[in-house]
Amino acid sequence: MNVNYYEITDPVYRTTWKKRNQPGYVLVEPTQYWKIPIREQGWKPTPCCLTTRFKVMDNEFRNMEIHKDDIWLGSFPKSGTTWSQEMVWLICNNLDYEQARKNKLIMRFPFVEINSIANVPSDFFKLAREMPSPRFIKTHLPVSLLPDQIWTVKPKIVYVYRKPKSVIVSYYHHCVTLANYNGTLEEFTRSFMRDLQVYTPYHNHVIEYHKIDHLDNVLLLNYEDMKTDLVEVIRRVCVFFNKSYTDEQITELCNHLSFESMKNNPSVNAQEMVDMVLAQTNRLQEKDNMNRQFIRKGQIDGWKTDLSPELAEEIDDWTRSNVKTATYQKLFL
Ligand code: A3P
Repeated sequence: MNVNYYEITDPVYRTTWKKRNQPGYVLVEPTQYWKIPIREQGWKPTPCCLTTRFKVMDNEFRNMEIHKDDIWLGSFPKSGTTWSQEMVWLICNNLDYEQARKNKLIMRFPFVEINSIANVPSDFFKLAREMPSPRFIKTHLPVSLLPDQIWTVKPKIVYVYRKPKSVIVSYYHHCVTLANYNGTLEEFTRSFMRDLQVYTPYHNHVIEYHKIDHLDNVLLLNYEDMKTDLVEVIRRVCVFFNKSYTDEQITELCNHLSFESMKNNPSVNAQEMVDMVLAQTNRLQEKDNMNRQFIRKGQIDGWKTDLSPELAEEIDDWTRSNVKTATYQKLFL
């Protein structure tokens, strides 16, 4: 065992998790982290909030065999993962739109630890392990919980991050839609700020990936940059993967990756999964509600219609008190 598990003692969580329809959570603390190339004196990974299911595959995941030509895409949930996956997959596969349309993104680019988080019908860990090379692998795990061989085999890792107010609002709607979360946005936000939603603590998730940015095999992307200048981001991704495309090809890729195009593309828009969950939970009447869509709103300032100015200010204050270093604070405010 190379992780410690801690029960959640937070009184609000303990008295309300069932009412909010949340799964059982646990804090997971890695105990063997000397291979991780974060060379900061005294650095120690922070325990991560995961569901109790994680215990079933912690060792197997930790010992997963890594291939040099793997392509890993990491993120905190709701940071633009799907968008980045489609971009990376196409760039690495000679812009093969036909295959991209034919094969669903969740199969081309499996979410490696999903079975340790939620009860899903397929074994995505197996799918990821057995994919032909190069394997495309999505994860939301923090740096400190990645498989050990990541640090010796050194596959390419792309990490995408997004501003916290957008992440919180998007994550809330995601949990209501897919996990039938039964709390309010305000309750969700407060538990998020107390590091009691899956994959939190959020700031550390983002900061720890920034602390491995000195590695040649790591590329950091940002949702807001993708929204403001997708061409520039695509060019950086192409350089990272040693790929070269013409201006026309890049324009075509931008069109394919536009919000409207992704929304109308069943290969990337996991709307079938949403509809299945809505049917199972007798909420099919909500099917046309914009917040029940997987590719939902796609805006930089979309949170403004959901968060009260007071709650938005609280989130900013939480960032200021949690993140003291100015360079890191800029990532979030
Ligand atoms: P919103 O809920 O704010 O709309 P992830 O893939 O990590 O779960 O992230 C989901 C977020 O990315 C959602 O944010 C979704 O709408 C947004 N998104 C997906 N595709 C996008 C695109 N092509 N352009 C902009 N945003 C996109």
